[in-house]
Amino acid sequence: MLHSLAVANYRSVRDLVLPLAGLNLVTGANGSGKSNLYRGLRLLADAAHGNANRAIALEGGLPSVLWAGPEQFSRLVKQGRQPVQGGPRQQPVSLRLGFSGDGLGYAIDFGLPTPVPGTMFVQDPEIKREVIWHGESWHERRGLVDRKGPMVRARDDNGRWRVIEQHIPAFESMLTWVADPQQAPEVVSLREELRSWRFYDHFRCDADSPARSPQVGVRTPVLSNDGHDLAAAWQTIREIGDDVALEAAVNDAFPGATVQILESAGRFELRFAQPGLLRALSQAELSDGTLRYLLLVAALETPRPPPLMVLNEPETSLHPDLLPPLGRLMRRYSQDNQLWVVSHAPSLIAELIEDPATSHLQLDKELGETFVHDLSPFDAPAWKWPTR
Ligand SMILES: Nc1ncnc2c1ncn2[C@@H]1O[C@H](COP(=O)(O)OP(=O)(O)OP(=O)(O)O)[C@@H](O)[C@H]1O
Ligand SMILES: [Mg+2]
Repeated sequence: MLHSLAVANYRSVRDLVLPLAGLNLVTGANGSGKSNLYRGLRLLADAAHGNANRAIALEGGLPSVLWAGPEQFSRLVKQGRQPVQGGPRQQPVSLRLGFSGDGLGYAIDFGLPTPVPGTMFVQDPEIKREVIWHGESWHERRGLVDRKGPMVRARDDNGRWRVIEQHIPAFESMLTWVADPQQAPEVVSLREELRSWRFYDHFRCDADSPARSPQVGVRTPVLSNDGHDLAAAWQTIREIGDDVALEAAVNDAFPGATVQILESAGRFELRFAQPGLLRALSQAELSDGTLRYLLLVAALETPRPPPLMVLNEPETSLHPDLLPPLGRLMRRYSQDNQLWVVSHAPSLIAELIEDPATSHLQLDKELGETFVHDLSPFDAPAWKWPTR
């Protein structure tokens, strides 16, 4: 379980350290920074997949994603008695992301590339520092693996630092470069953890959506991001997951309805039977909202929950009547697993905050900077960034 997430200089997030609970609900007005935090989480997962630089480039490159405001706001600026002004930089340009959890903590620091003659990759960010530690927040003493520029050190069995890599390319994360589980087991376990974070972002439900046609049926403990394997995932939950909870989730939203899975020549198809109809409807015939609800049920009833699941605005195209059942499903999921939900929908939000265990992060913006309502410095988890 993650205890804290820290983001600095990433779009509207100048410097935030958030406490995380089992169920984390992120709300806020348009433009308050919900998607920016979501993207920050994705970027951490991208680093473990070796795709962080590509992800930053696709967002417009470092110049676009770096916080566009001043390094600090003076008190006079905050009080509106002085205009916002840029000055000479005190710190190097640095986009930083990190988290700490039950086991390990991790932080990564991207900076501007060092000019290299003859290269066209002048926009490619450089990874300046990466650290893995144990305990609440980073400290040299608690460090387990430490990358500075091209060099990586790890603790040996006696707790002494030992250099394990000297030439990591500046654009590669040590998470993808260091492969030896003997030398740095923490890198391998953290990489696996980050790679298994699961993101669901707007399932397509139009007529041509892959979620609407029968697909090859193989055991599917993890629903894909586009939901094309819905029928196989559903049947997998039935066979190796919590079949009773699956049915209860359908009944909670559609009383009396049942889901059937049909097999034909190796392909699986989902059928939805409702009281009053003479035949069950196929995936292709379901309304967008019904299909999307079933996709979310299959995602949340997964027999193999990830260390972190992230749902971005899951309410899209769901009728308000479906949101309380969806909220109940999320609350149940988060009793044993960690969930991050970004939402705009009042009835989903109402259902989730009824649970006292929910951590409600209400985002807002002041002078262009994202902040969290009611998060006093005393509530913010301990956090320290490694320096370069
Ligand atoms: N480099 C940057 N520096 C500062 N602010 C930025 C930067 N890039 C984008 N922003 C700001 O971030 C805000 C967008 O945040 P985000 O997309 O996370 O909003 P949101 O809360 O998801 O809104 P919505 O509900 O509309 O999806 C915009 O207001 C934009 O001005
Ligand atoms: Mg958004």
